Amino acid sequence: MSRRILVTGAAGFIGSNFVRLLLGRGEDVFIVALDKLTYAGNLANLQDLLEKYPKKLVFVKADICDAKQIEEIWRQHQIREVVHFAAESHVDRSIMGSGPFIQTNVVGTQVLLDVAKGLGVDKYLQVSTDEVYGTLPEDQPEIKFTEETPLQPNSPYSASKAAGDCLVRSYFHTFGLPVLTTRCSNNYGPYHFPEKLIPLFVTNLMEGKKVPLYGDGMNVRDWLYVEDHCDAIWTVLNKGRMGEVYNIGGNNELTNRRITEVVLLQMGKNWDESVQYVKDRPGHDRRYAIDAGKMKNELGWEPKHRFEQAIQTTIDWYRTHESWWRGIKSGEYLKYYQQQYTGR
Ligand code: NAD
Ligand code: TYD
Repeated sequence: MSRRILVTGAAGFIGSNFVRLLLGRGEDVFIVALDKLTYAGNLANLQDLLEKYPKKLVFVKADICDAKQIEEIWRQHQIREVVHFAAESHVDRSIMGSGPFIQTNVVGTQVLLDVAKGLGVDKYLQVSTDEVYGTLPEDQPEIKFTEETPLQPNSPYSASKAAGDCLVRSYFHTFGLPVLTTRCSNNYGPYHFPEKLIPLFVTNLMEGKKVPLYGDGMNVRDWLYVEDHCDAIWTVLNKGRMGEVYNIGGNNELTNRRITEVVLLQMGKNWDESVQYVKDRPGHDRRYAIDAGKMKNELGWEPKHRFEQAIQTTIDWYRTHESWWRGIKSGEYLKYYQQQYTGR
């Protein structure tokens, strides 16, 4: 019998790429793609897959905070494994208002864990982020986040993810729930919502607009192509040890200025005409860097994509999918953009 997997947040950026990877590879799975379809969820991200794989993929619109609904879905589809992507995921929005972050990232995670405990599960994988570890000094490049680094979240987003991770840990220790946790660095690639750095900058440039660089532009992130992240999650789900945390990264630390230079170069744009320095994000973490040694040594996973090539592929995807992002960059998005970048 096919593996019966509940994928939460499956209509978002990474969740939809994960479903795409598994089905594209011909894995023997039956996937229940669950999503509340918030502003960040988009059924168009799954539409072609739903048509191509009607026997292997179903979509269910549901809120992970609704225990009754989750229990019904679990029973109806005989769920045995969970990959939990669903989240409020944007730091800037968490600064505007943290309520939805606590609701989905903390309460939603607790609901999923409780249903898993009550109805039974073979594996539950929590998709988390390197941001739970806080920030690193920029003058000590040898220091990176390991799985032993203490959790020191600095934004309401990362605090809510850390709270979710702590709940997952507690269900392992207290109830013996078979859980796994992954913590990954910044992803980029197709279907990335255009409020995040790379897709925002690429689509702004396509619209002939400037790109808003926070502060001095020298904050550092580690960037991983989304397909590599999805492959890493699948590896952990198959080979990871229960109760363990696995850090996932691209060994690809770049300043935001460097990212901006690369994007401008690939799009034939000039710095002075295209870049606008704007007020820094409050509490802006200076540097993230991942030690992914455990993934390599224990599970044999390493990223397959090189940044230079994958960023080009990503930009090309936005060039060939204009209707996808133009549809998003209207309506509610415009209100958010106005508030975030002009304070009005
Ligand atoms: P995203 O915002 O693109 O997608 C999140 C999805 O969750 C959306 O489709 C949304 O509709 C859905 N959702 C939100 N609240 C829900 C609820 N209450 N019930 C059901 N569905 C709900 O986010 P993403 O970038 O794809 O991130 C996915 C996961 O990966 C998140 O848990 C995030 O913390 C983690 N992560 C992201 C990155 C990154 O660089 N994007 C890096 C590391 C970890
Ligand atoms: P983002 O894509 O929001 O991811 P995260 O904050 O989760 O790392 O931002 C990546 C980096 O880019 C971060 O240092 C903030 C910066 N940034 C800008 O300079 N301008 C922007 O408009 C955005 C959205 C981000």
